[in-house]
Amino acid sequence: MPGLVPDAVFFDHLANRRFVAGNFIRRPDQLDYLQEPDVFHDVFGHVPLLADPVYADYMQAYGEGGLRSLRFGALHKLARLYWYTVEFGLIEEAGELRLFGAGIVSSHGESRFALDDPSPNRIAFDLLRVMRTNYRIDDYQQSYFVIPSFEALLKATVETDFAPVYAALEGLEDVAADAVLPQDRLFTRGTQAYARDRR
Ligand SMILES: [Fe+2]
Repeated sequence: MPGLVPDAVFFDHLANRRFVAGNFIRRPDQLDYLQEPDVFHDVFGHVPLLADPVYADYMQAYGEGGLRSLRFGALHKLARLYWYTVEFGLIEEAGELRLFGAGIVSSHGESRFALDDPSPNRIAFDLLRVMRTNYRIDDYQQSYFVIPSFEALLKATVETDFAPVYAALEGLEDVAADAVLPQDRLFTRGTQAYARDRR
């Protein structure tokens, strides 16, 4: 997440095809989860995908969109798109779900959880849905969104005029991190047992 560098600086780097990485590394007791992005998260989780040209275009488009979102006061809505794709995204490939979000990839525990645990929802990606949905920063996600391909993700981002999206979002309520909506296309309806047990 943007967080350790100011948002506008982070987006400007992305828009210019640069990626900033943390300069510290987690402690042994933080192996599975920490909130701040350390160098392991950034270099192991994010950097490999930047070599994929389509994904790199998405990151650039996100940076450009991020700069625009600041003018709309809509950063927290757009941040959900980053969270549920770049950090915690799943992708359907060869009929299977796979990980690509760096926040999952850099956590052994969440890697297993996101793919195999019955607890979280796994929901087909929909731009507006994602941008309405709250997320957890303190624990594993309660819902994951599944993209069909990086091409589809890039297309949904660059072909969308976000001004009307932000306007539409004004009239829509936020969706809880564990919620399932009637219009959702579900891969898995989660039991949410993990989140319940952790309370
Ligand atoms: Fe990250």
